[in-house]
Amino acid sequence: MKNKYYITTPIYYPNDIPHLGHAYTTIAADVLARWNKLQGKEVFFLTGTDEHGKKLQNAAEKVGKKPKEFVDGIIPEFKEAWKKLNIEYNRFIRTTDKEHEKVVQAILQKCFDNGDIYKGDYEGLYCTSCEAYFTEKDCPDKLCPVHNKPLEYLKEESYFFKLSKYQKYLLDLYEKNPEFISPESKKQEIINRVKEGLKDFSISRTSFNWGIPLPFDKKHICYVWFDALLNYISGIDYLEDKKSFNKFWPADVHVMAKDILWFHVVYWPAMLKSVGIEPPKKIFAHGWWTVLNQKMGKSAGNAINIDQLIGYAGVDPARYFLMREIPFGQDGDFSYESLIERNNAELADKFGNLISRVSTLAEKYGIEKTSNSLLKKLKLSEIEKDMQNLALDKALNEIFAFVDICNEYVQSKKPWETGDKKVLYELADSIKAVSILLFPFMPETCEKIAKTFSFKIEDVKNINKPLAVKKIKKSEILFKKIEVKPKAEVKETKMEEKTSKSNLINYEQFSKVDLRVATVLDVEDIAGADKLYKLSIDLGKEKRTILAGMKPYYKKEEIKGKQIIVVANLEPRKMKGLTSEGMLLAASNEDHTKVILLSPEKKIDNGSKIS
Ligand code: MSP
Repeated sequence: MKNKYYITTPIYYPNDIPHLGHAYTTIAADVLARWNKLQGKEVFFLTGTDEHGKKLQNAAEKVGKKPKEFVDGIIPEFKEAWKKLNIEYNRFIRTTDKEHEKVVQAILQKCFDNGDIYKGDYEGLYCTSCEAYFTEKDCPDKLCPVHNKPLEYLKEESYFFKLSKYQKYLLDLYEKNPEFISPESKKQEIINRVKEGLKDFSISRTSFNWGIPLPFDKKHICYVWFDALLNYISGIDYLEDKKSFNKFWPADVHVMAKDILWFHVVYWPAMLKSVGIEPPKKIFAHGWWTVLNQKMGKSAGNAINIDQLIGYAGVDPARYFLMREIPFGQDGDFSYESLIERNNAELADKFGNLISRVSTLAEKYGIEKTSNSLLKKLKLSEIEKDMQNLALDKALNEIFAFVDICNEYVQSKKPWETGDKKVLYELADSIKAVSILLFPFMPETCEKIAKTFSFKIEDVKNINKPLAVKKIKKSEILFKKIEVKPKAEVKETKMEEKTSKSNLINYEQFSKVDLRVATVLDVEDIAGADKLYKLSIDLGKEKRTILAGMKPYYKKEEIKGKQIIVVANLEPRKMKGLTSEGMLLAASNEDHTKVILLSPEKKIDNGSKIS
């Protein structure tokens, strides 16, 4: 079926509440789903949760719950988060759904029957946070490259999937479908690795029991990735409804971050090939949101949760910011200040102001139908191409370039002086075009604009259908300008809220603070600051700048060369036009007359962790 679009997000581990990283992928998929609906396609958008495996079992044990009881408590948090963010998915799949479990067992049995699964022994390294196997060659220091945590050594009887058999199939697949691995920048590395040779991978574990038993050997629990990948076919009813499956499969795109690309472009098509199912059309890996260059996530303790994210400026500004701030496919550092800056400069000042001015003037003078010459400046086909290529940030840039053109048009035509109804018509009709294009990114706001100017969003073709002349009423304010607040005033995370009533923190909360040893390389004054110094510090793996209010207590030369202790995972903060990338620790008496720098008792490597 040509006129369908099947898009998926990864199914997330519900070992904790969702955060900005999960929201990013889910919003991007929602934008693409909504965009394709506007193209008149029948869209199926699948998201959900990956609920089996050691990681989940551990998380449940930690709080004294059974795994199913534990995940049942977290799933509503995911559903609630997606509701808050206005995510319009078709199905939320859980790997504990009975129908999914049946699909997994059916596929396992098929692979076993056709000789692609055999019994052996697994010996090697494992990261429970990734739920992934590693070799000593990948990680000579035995640390997980994603989580930087020690890898676990495993030795157990296991069934294996004959991945090695599919090397040629995979290389052919990549060659014949140049967009299968997207973006292009991620492709070569995968091809090189596949060319080096593929090892059969272990698909079962016996040392724990939270998962789906292998149908041909119930002692063994299915490896969580083999189980999880199959959600993409069970989510469209592979077993129960062949019609639905045949209508939507192959998926048009699986969207995810780069850390799980390998599973999707190597394991997944090989598994499908083994049971005679076509591969998906495209696997797209976007980059990571980082904080101080460290991947944002639960393990790093630097995650921004959904309430925080939308608490900064609202839902649509959050959706807009995430899609606009970094090129889709690349990494980017999150900063609350940039979100506010974009909200204020682009949404409130440019887009919001355009709507407000034009609707106010249209209410006053009315509009009169004319041909819209302004609309010719909208680069529609480029925007469509960008959306097709998942260059979401580029599409937004183009749309906003046209918003600028509209604002310039208002300035040059001065309709508040002339009361020119035709100019106001051109502007209102152009606002219609912009709002249809922005609808996938900011659905709630664009619906409001559609009401103000009386048009329907439903189809991109409406861009070229002239706006009907109706009475227009002044629009409400769509985006509020926000003052940048110091981080401390920004709402704390949900997890922390639960214990914030007392001064006690638990160990988990404490362990989120990344304290490190650093050497002060240089100390400088800052123009206009009477307390702050600018410190250049060496943190072992990197150099950073931090600003510290030590001027009243120390001379520059007393600090330079010293080893100090810094909070290394503090969100960057702008002060006096500079960005501070951390905070040093000092002891202070009650009235701050005495402040003493904390320093390790003996010299130690820069970057050493305080624990
Ligand atoms: N359960 C597996 C996926 C199985 S799919 C068959 C998994 N789950 S996860 O909870 O760890 O989610 C990983 C996904 O969350 C990433 O692929 C990405 O989509 C999103 N992100 C999590 N942290 C992120 C960032 N810091 N930045 C960008 N995306 C992030 O892996």
